[in-house]
Amino acid sequence: MPCRFSSNVLAALLLIVLPGAFAQDFKKQVIYQIVTDRFANGTTANDNPPQSSGLLDPAKTNWHLYWGGDLTGIQQKLSYLKSMGVTAIWISPPVDNLNLNISDGQGNPTAPYHGYSARDFKRIEEHYGDAGNLWTEFDSLVSAAHQNGIKIIVDFAANHTSPEKAGEKGALYDNGTLIATYDNDPHGIFHHTFDLAGTDYEDRYKVQYYSLLSLADLNQENPTVDSYLKAALRQLQQEGVDAFRMDAVKHVTWGWEYSEVNSIFTNGPSFVFGEWMGGRDDALYHDAYKFANKSGMSLLDYPLYYAITDVFANDSPFAEIDNTLTAESQEFSSPNDLVTFVDNHDKPRLLTIRNDPTHLDEATAFLLTCRGIPIIYYGDEQYLHNDTNNGNENGGDPYNRPWMSAFDSTTTGYKLVSQLSGLRQSNAALGYGSMQQRWINKDVYIYERKFFDDLVLTAINKSDTASYTIAGLFTALLPGMYPDYLGGLMSGLSITVNDGHGNNPVTTFTLPPHSVAVWQSTAPDTSPEAGSVGPTVGQTGMKVTIAGKGFGAAPGTVLFGSTPATIHSWSDTSVEFSVPQVSSGKYNIQLKTSAGAAANTLPFTVLTAKLIPVTFTVKNAIPTHFGDNIFLTGSTVELGSWGTTFDTAVGPMLTPNHPDWFISASMPSGTTIQFKFIRIAANGDVTWEGGANHSYAVPTSGTGLVDVIWQK
Ligand code: NOJ
Ligand code: NOJ
Repeated sequence: MPCRFSSNVLAALLLIVLPGAFAQDFKKQVIYQIVTDRFANGTTANDNPPQSSGLLDPAKTNWHLYWGGDLTGIQQKLSYLKSMGVTAIWISPPVDNLNLNISDGQGNPTAPYHGYSARDFKRIEEHYGDAGNLWTEFDSLVSAAHQNGIKIIVDFAANHTSPEKAGEKGALYDNGTLIATYDNDPHGIFHHTFDLAGTDYEDRYKVQYYSLLSLADLNQENPTVDSYLKAALRQLQQEGVDAFRMDAVKHVTWGWEYSEVNSIFTNGPSFVFGEWMGGRDDALYHDAYKFANKSGMSLLDYPLYYAITDVFANDSPFAEIDNTLTAESQEFSSPNDLVTFVDNHDKPRLLTIRNDPTHLDEATAFLLTCRGIPIIYYGDEQYLHNDTNNGNENGGDPYNRPWMSAFDSTTTGYKLVSQLSGLRQSNAALGYGSMQQRWINKDVYIYERKFFDDLVLTAINKSDTASYTIAGLFTALLPGMYPDYLGGLMSGLSITVNDGHGNNPVTTFTLPPHSVAVWQSTAPDTSPEAGSVGPTVGQTGMKVTIAGKGFGAAPGTVLFGSTPATIHSWSDTSVEFSVPQVSSGKYNIQLKTSAGAAANTLPFTVLTAKLIPVTFTVKNAIPTHFGDNIFLTGSTVELGSWGTTFDTAVGPMLTPNHPDWFISASMPSGTTIQFKFIRIAANGDVTWEGGANHSYAVPTSGTGLVDVIWQK
């Protein structure tokens, strides 16, 4: 006891120097997504750079060329964003992209103005920065953003470089030095398979190892590629990047991505969310949420996106949203970390589908009060849209990326984001709370967010014409009169809550057409309340943040079982610590205040060691029928702790050369692991490989390979 006391005193002294400097809590963020080339032209000096001249269309008529937006332009608009309540911006991949024009097949030039055709992940694109491909403008944006309390999220496309067969033929450079092109690749930097098409998207092997959109597909299991990509991420973190949006994570090697996200969090605090396109009916949906739950990488909430589009643009009943949220709450272990959106650069804007600004505002209000971390797509607050048909759909790529039309801070959309972002900061229910449906019909959705005694009740009526009488609504809000937090911005009214011993009835009221009302209350904290842990997976020594309320000013403890973590910073709402030396496995970690008051526990998985990618092959495996799969299971938490179910074992493995099966997995470096392969039949029946356990000493760095024959 005296020992603990003195270490607390020491920690308290350190806190004076480092007041939570690195703490990262993304649940309170409001993200704004920017297509850098289309937002603001801060300097014309980089419009037509020498190494890639001719890729600019100053008239902005060729939608496939650069239009002049740049990092300096974003920097100039930071006060506009800050006043809107934006706390983080997601920018296009900023790294050096393909320099040559590629014809669209009809003689029109195209260029990677979107940033998804990287050539050098360690330099900045000259159209966004300067002709030297230097970091100057990038660093300047990062520090200006941080001064405005805005975090920077970089879009990182680890799956591919540029087109395989045109332009620079996928050329990859390491800070200016050519590594390989798709045509000249003696060391296997790229996968040389086929282009994804049709039902390939439902096949686990093809999705990861075939080429997406004919883009040269990087081989992340190659040690050069592995260390290159991780070094590029580390460099971005060193330049001050706060978080990453990972492009096309469904198409990158899944097992490798566990080590990618582990590498980021080993470097320092961050937040990582991936793009896994597809709804709940997608063939690989179970793989998607298993990946999110186990890797510690959050995902963009595509299932909810589809439901939002159906409900707010296509007149589907609110039940579709409600059912999606219920299902996802069972599938995802941390639904509040899912990253939610109404619009993005890959889908037609909501206003294209339904040209009614009020519907967009209602969808935005929903997004900002629903569970999850909201993203506003640039221009939604200005009702920006272009509805040109792209040959496939109205307003699809690239017409969903128009030039930013205005920076008007008086629109309803702008004010709405600003007000609800303010509420996200002041009321912990929005970032950390549960989500409960309280009243629903096809046009009306009333739902409550609750974090201990902090409450936000939101009511939306999306009907163009119908008023609804709301009878039989109950809430946890205490008895009293609640004004509309939005002050009538969306035609909301006040309500009266009556005493019902906790399940409190609301006096019957009428919700007018096209209205949103938000009622809320916060309670002073009488005990510590933990709302968030991030990351959720990591090894001894990794820095982790717990955020919430009522932690007190003086440092207390964070316990993994009975083992206390080393505390780095402590405030009333955020605590940063390192994972202590404990055995690997799943923990319910607990914060205690200096007075000994215990908060609710939060789940955390302690890894055995830092992860590195290992490719496992088992040859001549036991026969399988359709729907049966071979999995890997073994001794450590990374191997599923001898689990034998789809969600616990590693897999399904892949079988392009049947009956051999392989999988890339991330394993604890410098650790000797015991493992076996199993067959999990379509009905769940498990058949174990015979013989003794396999054993393998995972290398301390680089990548590993295991090649064995199925033991009968
Ligand atoms: C998904 C991105 O969001 C999309 O815009 C891009 O074209 C592909 N990934 C390929 O990087
Ligand atoms: C083909 C294999 O033969 C079969 O056993 C397996 O179930 C499917 N691929 C799906 O992985």
